[in-house]
Amino acid sequence: MLSSRGAKWAKIKFAHGERDVYHHIKNPKGVVSFANAENWLVHEDISHFVNTHSDFDKDCCSYGEGFTGTVRLRTAMANHLNAHFKPAQKIDPEEITFAAGVTDLNEVCALITCDPEQNESIMLGGPIYGSFSKDLTQRTGVELEYISMGDVDQFSPACIAAFDDGFEAAKARGVNIRALIICNPHNPLGQCYPRETLEGLLRLCAAKGIHLISDEIYGLSTYERHDRPSEKFTSVRAIDPTGIIDPAQVHVLYGMSKDFAASGMRLGCVISQNLEFTNATRATCRFSSPSLFSMELAARLLEDQGFLAKFLQKSDRLLLQNRLLAEDLLEQAGIDYHKPGNAGFFIWLDLSAHLPIAKTNGDVWAAERLLTELFEKAGVIMSPGEPYHAPTPGKFRLIFSVDEETLREGVRR
Ligand SMILES: Cc1ncc(COP(=O)(O)O)c(C=O)c1O
Repeated sequence: MLSSRGAKWAKIKFAHGERDVYHHIKNPKGVVSFANAENWLVHEDISHFVNTHSDFDKDCCSYGEGFTGTVRLRTAMANHLNAHFKPAQKIDPEEITFAAGVTDLNEVCALITCDPEQNESIMLGGPIYGSFSKDLTQRTGVELEYISMGDVDQFSPACIAAFDDGFEAAKARGVNIRALIICNPHNPLGQCYPRETLEGLLRLCAAKGIHLISDEIYGLSTYERHDRPSEKFTSVRAIDPTGIIDPAQVHVLYGMSKDFAASGMRLGCVISQNLEFTNATRATCRFSSPSLFSMELAARLLEDQGFLAKFLQKSDRLLLQNRLLAEDLLEQAGIDYHKPGNAGFFIWLDLSAHLPIAKTNGDVWAAERLLTELFEKAGVIMSPGEPYHAPTPGKFRLIFSVDEETLREGVRR
């Protein structure tokens, strides 16, 4: 009945409809979900802002000028980014294009940079945000090149040689890499890239003639640790491209879902100085146009930098507090985890010692899948490492930015 791609997509499991969410009083038998990276700790602050700024003009009922971002929203976002991301070259509202979420823009990046029938691809390291493996491929037909980092730390300048080798190895196989995508701050490792590494990656992209796409959606969700070094977030736009790379090759993804705890607004944007890239993005984004009501609210939020200064300070403080609590609970439970990290909402667990390998005839990745199912049966949903292209099995991503009772219950289960 369906096209071949329709039939293929029909087999994809996708969350839909009512959910049985755990609440320590209202629903103690409900499911603890560590699946979505959301900052639950400050949802109330944002909903309060929304409720007190919800008088809309009738113009919001129209298509308006809003298919890919109103001028007001793009101006507010440019001002916000100029204040917080310290770009070497000031960001102009015309560089910004909005869509209904970064998820959509990830796909757009693949659509407009790669011709799959020409064996064109995007390279990325691992582990990395698991949804890239779907967002960049499902509808585009692009196959990704996950570059093995071996023993190399993804954040050290040594990763540049690993990407270089991966690029050349792909080329030798007839794969033409058109872009490198990074996630900074990193999902799921929670680390920020040092400036030196970013500069090296820009130089690499310049030498290879490819795009650098930097997903910086967690840019302001960083917290300073007092017990170990904390790398500060540096946007790729904070590096002066002069003598390094043509700025037309550098694109940044950002949005409302993480730093503003407002994934319900469904607003993401791409910032690019490449007019052709921007025009292609806009032509594609008409299929994923955001709501004018959302854009109006987001503009009001971004314009209120007084509110945001306090909000971001509170958010970062609570994130650190919950991360420390999660580490404490994990240590008490004897669970190992990736220690570095001072950004984002997640901790990368190492449950390799707990893989039920005996039940999967020694197949370690099948054991990881089985452990994921066992967690679900026990009422905990957690992303396993496989879609994140974790180099070894047994890694799981725990979301710690939930309320304390949910965090305690999830770790206990
Ligand atoms: C790195 C990264 N990019 C993009 C997204 C999705 O963003 P949006 O809600 O804007 O689609 C997420 C959400 O988890 C993410 O972690």
